Amino acid sequence: MLAPGATIGILGGGQLGRMTALAAARLGYSVHVFATEHDSPAAQVSAGVTVAAYDDSAALARFAEAVDVATFEFENIPAEAVRKVAALKPVMPRPEILEISQDRLREKDFLSRIGVATAAYQEIGDATALAKALAGLKGRAVLKSARLGYDGKGQVAVDGSTPPDEAWRQMGGARGILEEFVDFRCEVSVIVARAADGAMATYPPVENRHVNHILDTTIAPATLPPETAREAEMIARDIAARLDLVGVLAVEMFVTKDGKLLVNELAPRPHNSGHWTIDACATSQFEQLVRAICGLPLGSPERHADAVMKNLIGDEVETWREAIADPSARVHLYGKRKVLPGRKMGHITRLVPRRP
Ligand SMILES: Nc1ncnc2c1ncn2[C@@H]1O[C@H](COP(=O)(O)OP(=O)(O)O)[C@@H](O)[C@H]1O
Ligand SMILES: [Mg+2]
Repeated sequence: MLAPGATIGILGGGQLGRMTALAAARLGYSVHVFATEHDSPAAQVSAGVTVAAYDDSAALARFAEAVDVATFEFENIPAEAVRKVAALKPVMPRPEILEISQDRLREKDFLSRIGVATAAYQEIGDATALAKALAGLKGRAVLKSARLGYDGKGQVAVDGSTPPDEAWRQMGGARGILEEFVDFRCEVSVIVARAADGAMATYPPVENRHVNHILDTTIAPATLPPETAREAEMIARDIAARLDLVGVLAVEMFVTKDGKLLVNELAPRPHNSGHWTIDACATSQFEQLVRAICGLPLGSPERHADAVMKNLIGDEVETWREAIADPSARVHLYGKRKVLPGRKMGHITRLVPRRP
């Protein structure tokens, strides 16, 4: 066990790192951030920071030297960087899990192998292969870059009449995955924390509504038939166990019109759809991550209120002015100096009395 007083390293300087650092500080840990930019949201609230590129081996070694355990807050950190740190200090979740979640094909292959349902998919290696696949396509599909996509970037909606060369170019990746288009009823996610001894704490499924492919609102909990909610939690726990995860995992799923669950994406880190747990639960997703990687017992995920979390994207950040005077609203701002369209600037969680 790493007792409070130890130093937690976080690779990545974004808001997920910031909120993890705040949770760590509350438990008496000190945090050292590795970020590629000065004045990052995570570094603003941490005791130490290394500012360097992810391919700077000396800086990665200095970072590892400064910490007792390390984690990551961002999927697209080059695997090589994480491995260099892992050679010197424990990294949790283990780097192999990050590598699965960095590649949509590896991720879906892993899910298929362990028997978890996903949308039908196939690997697409180039524009010629895409042309062939589109010719045989029945309905609509989504072409996604296998690597480095987020917030809908690197994705193109296609059907049998789509010009393949153009879609391939728009997708912009070196390898693609073509997924059947799921005409879902809603999108949900489940967050599960898992300790080294296999103990798990699960939050209920929440509903996620996207605008322009960016998460806009999370409704916690999702309104689902109880057996669907239970099944969603079981799927997330099963995946965490099969990954031998130590840390926090978010599992994004589609609920189809006939009530089936299809897993869309995995994120082995705290997730935007879990921000509500800071204000509405006994233990937040961020504190669970700190507890899991430090070998403390997981906290209770019990929720004392239901919640609606609204992301503040770009200019929406200005609504903090009204929200700050609203007693039902909890305002979180990430300290980002520059407002850009599509940039996550903060979020507001509104608490509502808990339904049974
Ligand atoms: N196969 C699909 N069918 C229908 N909608 C999809 C499909 N894949 C993705 N989407 C939509 O696009 C959003 C973003 O896709 P996702 O695979 O989660 O990538 P990312 O979140 O990394 O950008 C999803 O939340 C969903 O709304
Ligand atoms: Mg997603």
